[in-house]
Amino acid sequence: MMQQKAGNFTQNIHDEEYEKKFLSGMASPCGMINDTARQKESLNGLWNFQIDQYDTCIRSKWYEESYKNDKGRYQPIDYSFDSWQTIRVPSCWNTEDERFYYYEGPAVYTRKFRYENRGEQRVFIKFGAVNYEAKVFLNKKFVEMHRGGSTPFYLEVTGLLEEMNRILVVADNTRKAEAVPAKNTDWFNYGGIYRDVEIIRLPETFIQDYSVGLVPGTGFQQIKAEIVVNGTQTDGEAMLEIAEFGIQQKLSLKNGKADVILNASPELWSPENPRLYEVKITYMADSVTEQIGFREIQTSGTKVFLNGKQIFLKGICAHEESVPNGKAVTDEEIRENFRLAKEMNCNFMRLAHYPHTEKAAQIADQMGIMLWEEIPVYWAIDFANPQTYENAENQLTELILRDRNRASVIIWSVGNENADTDERLQFMSSLAVKAKQLDNSRLVSAACLVDHTKLMIADRLAAYLDIIGINEYYGWYAPDFNELIQLLDNSNPQKPVVITEFGADALKGARGTADDMGTEDCQLDIFRKQTETLGNIPYIQGTSPWILFDFRCPRRTSALQGEYNRKGLLNEDITYKKPAFEVMKKFYESL
Ligand code: GCU
Repeated sequence: MMQQKAGNFTQNIHDEEYEKKFLSGMASPCGMINDTARQKESLNGLWNFQIDQYDTCIRSKWYEESYKNDKGRYQPIDYSFDSWQTIRVPSCWNTEDERFYYYEGPAVYTRKFRYENRGEQRVFIKFGAVNYEAKVFLNKKFVEMHRGGSTPFYLEVTGLLEEMNRILVVADNTRKAEAVPAKNTDWFNYGGIYRDVEIIRLPETFIQDYSVGLVPGTGFQQIKAEIVVNGTQTDGEAMLEIAEFGIQQKLSLKNGKADVILNASPELWSPENPRLYEVKITYMADSVTEQIGFREIQTSGTKVFLNGKQIFLKGICAHEESVPNGKAVTDEEIRENFRLAKEMNCNFMRLAHYPHTEKAAQIADQMGIMLWEEIPVYWAIDFANPQTYENAENQLTELILRDRNRASVIIWSVGNENADTDERLQFMSSLAVKAKQLDNSRLVSAACLVDHTKLMIADRLAAYLDIIGINEYYGWYAPDFNELIQLLDNSNPQKPVVITEFGADALKGARGTADDMGTEDCQLDIFRKQTETLGNIPYIQGTSPWILFDFRCPRRTSALQGEYNRKGLLNEDITYKKPAFEVMKKFYESL
C-alpha cells in the first residue's frame, strides 16, 4: 500500500522524494544564447551564503520564504537570508573560506537586485558555470536546474522580474557515480557559482546563435555563416557584414534559420599570425559584432595540417586552477599560463579535463594558441546509464555551441582514460559522432590508454576519432621505458597520434639521482627519454605532457605531494620552473 505521506507540518522530514520535481526541468543546450558580443549586466558581487549539508533549503522550501502559516501566524524558520555570511560571486567556496575547503554538498546562494525595464521584451539570466548542479529560484519560484559543472546555462526570466527581486541558487558539488565526471577523479572538487552571473536584455526576436567559419576543403576560399533567431519574427531578412572582405550579404530566414556560403580569401588565423576579423550580424532591431578568426584544421594519413601546412602540436596540459582562486581563474591568470606555454615554444594546449571558461578560448584566439577542449568523461563513468549519456552529450553540446566561433579551438575531446569496454565504446563513439554532427570543421579526439598486455595502441574508440590521443607514463607508472619503444614499434595507427600525457611527479627543489622518484632529476631524466623517443615516431604528430603546473589533489597525500599532484613543469603558484621545463622548450624549438 502506498505509504501515506505525513499530512502535518513535519511533511518535509518524511519525504525522501523531495528532489524529484526539480530534476525534470533541465536547462538544456537549446536554451543557450551566443552571448560573446552581447551587452551584459553583472549580478556578480557579494551574495548571502550558507552551506546546507542536509539540503534543507529544498526539503523545507526556504526559497518560498513563507514566514507565516496559512492562518497568518509567524512560524519557526531555520534561515535568515540577509544575515547569513556573504561570499564573492564568482568564486569557489573552497578558496573563499577555509571552513569550506573540503566541503562537498549543497550550498545556498542568495541576493536581492533591482530591475527596471528599459524597453526590452525578453530578459535572461546567464550562469557561466556552477559546479556541479544548480537549482535556480527567482522571487520564490523554481525556474530551472542545470547539471554539469563547467558549461554555461541561460534562464529566461521574462515576466518573472519585479522592481525588487530575490534570486536563490542551490549549488551542489556532491560527487555521484552516475554523474559526469563520476565520484573518482584526480583533481580538486571545487564547488560554487565560480563564473559570472549576468542579465541579458533582448528584443522579442533576437539572434540566438550563429557560426561563421571557413568551409573545410575549399582551399580557404569559402566561408559559411549560419544564423538562428529566436522569437515570433522567424521569416525575415538578416544581414552579414565582414567589412574587410567587402561582404554585405542578406540572408533570408526560414523558420528562424538561415545559412550562406560566400567566396572570401581571409588572411588565415594561426599561432604565428592570430588574425581576427570583425563580423557583424543584424536582424531586425538586434545586432551582434565580434572578432572571428578563419583557419582550417585537417588530418591526412598520419599527419595534421593547419591551413594546408603540416604541423606538430607542441603542447602542454593544464587544469583550470590557481592557488588563490581555485577554478575561478582570472583573465590575467589565463594569460600568464598561455605566456608560459609560449615561452616553452608551445603552439598548443590541452585544457584538461573539462570545459575551461570561455574566456580561455577568447584569449587564445588573440594570443595565438591552438586548443584541445574536453568534456569530463573521465575514468570510470556509468557508461551503461542513459541519463549519464544524456548528461555527457549535453555538456559536449554546450561546449561546442559556446566555443565553435573560436579559431583557437581545433579539437573536441570526448573524454579521458576510459577502459575499452563495449558500453564505453558505445557511449564515447556516440559522443564522437555527435561532435562531428555539431561541427564538421574541427577534429574529434579522446585521451586513450595503450594496451599494456599487447604492448600496442589498440583502443577500439580510435576508429571514431580523427586524432588518437594517448596517455602513457613510461618511466613513471610503467617503470620499464623499453616497453614504450616496443609499443610504438608494434603499433601502426593509420591516423595521427598525439601523446596527450606523459610525465612524473617532482617536488620543487628536491634533488637526487635519476632513480630517485619525486626529484627534479628523475622528472628531468624521464622527460629527456620521452622526448628523445617520441620525436622520432612518424605517426606521432603532437605531445602535451602532464602538466604545466602542480595542482590540488586531495588523493595525493605522500610526503612529496602534500595533497598536490606534483607533475607540473612549474610549481603550484607558477613562480618556479623545474628543470624539465627546459627539456620541453628545447624539444619544441628543435621541431
Ligand atoms: C592520468 C590522468 C590525469 C592524472 C594523471 C596522473 O593520466 O589523465 O588526470 O592527473 O594521470 O596520474 O598524474
